[in-house]
Amino acid sequence: MSSPETRGRFAPESGSGAEAAVHDRGLAMSRRQVGGVLLAAAALAAMPRLSSSATTENRVLPPARKTGGMPLMDALLRRRSTREFSERPLPEQTLANLLWAAYGVNRPSGDRTAPYWRHIMVVDVYAAMADGVWLYDPKQHALLRHLPDDIRAQTGLQDFVAAAPLDLVYVAHGDRMRDISADERRLYASVDTGFIGQNVYLFCASEGLATVFRGSVDYPKLAVRLRLDASTFVTFAQTVGYPKG
Ligand SMILES: Cc1cc2nc3c(=O)[nH]c(=O)nc-3n(C[C@H](O)[C@H](O)[C@H](O)COP(=O)(O)O)c2cc1C
Repeated sequence: MSSPETRGRFAPESGSGAEAAVHDRGLAMSRRQVGGVLLAAAALAAMPRLSSSATTENRVLPPARKTGGMPLMDALLRRRSTREFSERPLPEQTLANLLWAAYGVNRPSGDRTAPYWRHIMVVDVYAAMADGVWLYDPKQHALLRHLPDDIRAQTGLQDFVAAAPLDLVYVAHGDRMRDISADERRLYASVDTGFIGQNVYLFCASEGLATVFRGSVDYPKLAVRLRLDASTFVTFAQTVGYPKG
């Protein structure tokens, strides 16, 4: 008998519906604009990098809507895993709200919507979509281009991952977790990820979106596909989209 985790077979979607990225183009700029670009470049240069292939392309997200939504108890009542997704892309505003809910900055201190081990930020949230793989930068509330390729099909071992519009991939920086064993690194990074995953579950419940947190991942293959360096590792993945039908 198939478990819920092996159900849900979809035909992969051919790269449709991605929102337009905001690109810096080689247009003539004023001195002020040049200053702004230099500042942005400096901020991007300070961002953690997982691989030398990452580019500095920045996709600005609209400010997240941080009020409203469903009452918490109603969202808890609706929280569930769903494994049948529509291919419909997520609107940019929904993506912005989702990423902020997942692991956005919710205080002037720079702390996040999810708790994290020893006040050391270890987990990064990557968004695999039809238009490539993006690293969510919570401070700038922006997506940084990581890879230009559609790798959704490689983010998990279940068919729906290829067709759903968004696969979140949670990546941990083991090198930031000092003086503990590899097992403890995996443990604490997984707990941090679980909190983020629950934020995503509750956001999805509130917004009528479908989601499932996933450990069914070919980890070595995904690490290679994401071009992760040796000090980083994937903890889990999570698919998000509209429910099918
Ligand atoms: C650590 C963890 C790993 C999971 N991995 C998968 C997975 O790989 N594929 C999947 O379809 N569901 C996965 N799930 C979802 C569970 O199967 C699901 O939460 C459970 O069956 C209870 O269903 P519910 O979320 O609808 O309450 C995972 C859940 C957790 C907490």
